[in-house]
Parts: sequence; structure tokens; C-alpha cells
Amino acid sequence: MPYRVDLRSDTVTKPSRAMRKAMAEADVGDDWFGDDPTVNRLQERAAEVTGKEAAQYVPTGTMANQIGLRLHFRGAGHFVVAEARSHVASTEVMSSAALSGIAYKAIPGDRRGQITTTQLERALIPDEPYDVEVVDLIAVENTHGHAGGTVMALEDLRGIRGVAAANSIAVHLDGARIFNASVASGVPVTDYCAEADTIMFCVSKGLGAPIGSLICGPRELIQEARRLKILYGGAWRQAGIVAAAGLIALEEGPKRLHEDHVRASRIAGGVAELLPGAVDPARVETNMVFVDSAAVGISPLEAVERLAREAVGATLVSGNVRMVTHVDISDEDVDVALAAWKAVAAELA
Ligand SMILES: Cc1ncc(COP(=O)(O)O)c(C=O)c1O
Repeated sequence: MPYRVDLRSDTVTKPSRAMRKAMAEADVGDDWFGDDPTVNRLQERAAEVTGKEAAQYVPTGTMANQIGLRLHFRGAGHFVVAEARSHVASTEVMSSAALSGIAYKAIPGDRRGQITTTQLERALIPDEPYDVEVVDLIAVENTHGHAGGTVMALEDLRGIRGVAAANSIAVHLDGARIFNASVASGVPVTDYCAEADTIMFCVSKGLGAPIGSLICGPRELIQEARRLKILYGGAWRQAGIVAAAGLIALEEGPKRLHEDHVRASRIAGGVAELLPGAVDPARVETNMVFVDSAAVGISPLEAVERLAREAVGATLVSGNVRMVTHVDISDEDVDVALAAWKAVAAELA
């Protein structure tokens, strides 16, 4: 679909000129044998920036999450606690069931996509007298995509970690957009990661690389992660070709994420002026804008279709029109998107 302004996701970005050059010139080897120097460099950098001992580079965020969950998961039919709309418990639920036999205790988060410590404590109280539930871990997501790109406070994550530790269960952090969370909150990525046993992050989202995610954690677990990566068909040979772009994304991407957040705020402000009540700009925390067009009498599906006719890409998420800013969205693109919303408001309101 040739959108002039593609706000469907921050995964739609094209590699920069510098990335394409680095990819063309990448020093490569066979990653199955662990001897692709560019992949190894990216893994070392990922471990450094997350403050973990080691990392594995895999093709997708889904694979990184599935490896992360499996590392802590002790047996089919056991439970993982996760927020109900989190990526692992909604979009990836079939992968979890098929690959590991995971059952979810999916809890609608009280705090904009996050489970509170009280909710977690309650979820861990055994049902008497015939309790058969075994909970192996809790998965948290920061930022939380389906809740609107919301940021988890470090204190909240610390609270969750505390309850998890008291119950001898592990914490896996889906940090697909952890750099957005860090830029928005001012909390260093390492501080967030210190509160999780394993963390996965994507270079293929806001950071702007074409492909890839990293699963990071203690060396011993990441050794097992490497085995699981091979098991899942993710030993991708001369992956250094894409890892070269990932290295640039990791160094350069975080420096400009604040621009995406400012543009998302601008979009929200503009839509709020056109359609009062459809979006609260104060609730836009990172690079995602959720417009509740139904609240002002506009079908979200029709709004997405009308925007598409103006060559502006948006998606439907949780009944909202979702727009995501990223490296390929400029200030002029924001103007184009707002002009498209003007057409929506004029025609559908
Ligand atoms: C929060 C979150 N986690 C994980 C993923 C999975 O990443 P991938 O699409 O690379 O499998 C996504 C994808 O959008 C996501 O938004």
C-alpha cells in the first residue's frame, strides 16, 4: 500500500543510507557456528547497553520473547502472569501455547497496561484446597503497545520484581520499545533491565533497523537461549548483513526518539482540536497516538479507511485508531496526517 505518510507502526521504517552502506560492507560469518563477527559485536553491545552478561540476536521480537519465556518456564501447563493486552498474552499467545505449552494468567492491568503489585500478589494466592496452578514467571511490557505506548515507572517494576522474588518466580521484560520508555521517563535502560531476569528489545522498531531483536540476560541462560534459537530455526547464518544495520540503530536510534515523541504529541494535539474528546494529548507518553473516534461518533474502521484514501496509514488497535511515529516521519508528514484528519472530521463527524 503506497502510503504517503505511514503511521501504521514503527516497524515500517526503511534502512538509512548509512545502514545500507554498512550492510553492503559487513564482515560476516556463519552464525550457527557463532562466528559472525558483526552479529557477535551487536550481541556484545546489546549486553552492554542492557547491563546484562550476554545476548543473542534473533530475527524477530516474537522469537526473542518466546525464547525469554521458555528460559524460565519449567513445564507445559504451568502459568505465566501477564497483562491481558500485552503482546505475549494477546498476539503471541498461540506461539506460547504451541512452542512451550504456556498457559496465561492474563490480568487486565489497573495502571494503563501494567499490573500493580497488589494485582500480582492476588494472582499468586493459591486457590484452596485444590490448587493446581504453578506460576513460573511474570512477563511485563515496557512501553506497553496496546495500552497506548505507555511507560512503566521504575518504582512499579521494582515492586513487581519484589513480589516475584518473594514468590521465587522470574521476571521477563518485553522491552521491544524499552528505549522509548527510557527517553520518555529519563530512567536509564540499565535501571529497567536490572529489575528483570531477561529482557528482549527490538532494533527493528523505533530504533530504525530493518530486522532483528535481542534477548539479553545472565551468561548461563543466554547459552541456553542460543540452543533455543537453533531449535526454533533462528540460526540465520550470515546474519551480520542485517546486524550491521542493527549496530547503527543501537548507537544512533536512541538519540532521536524524543523527536518521535514530540511529533506524536503534535498529532494528538491536532486531532484533539479537530475532534474534542477523541484523544487526550496528555496521555500520549511516547510515539503512539490512540484516537477513540467512536467516542465522537466516528467508526474507527471508517476513519482508518478514510485516512487511507488520503494516503495516510493508521491501524485499528483495541477499538482505537492507532498512529505511531518513527524515523521516517517528518514535521511535514505530521501536517499531512492532520490534514487527513480534517477530511475525516468534515466527512464523518
Ligand atoms: C511490545 C511488542 N513485543 C513484541 C513484538 C514482536 O515483535 P516482532 O514483530 O518483531 O515479532 C511486538 C511487535 O510489534 C511488540 O509490539
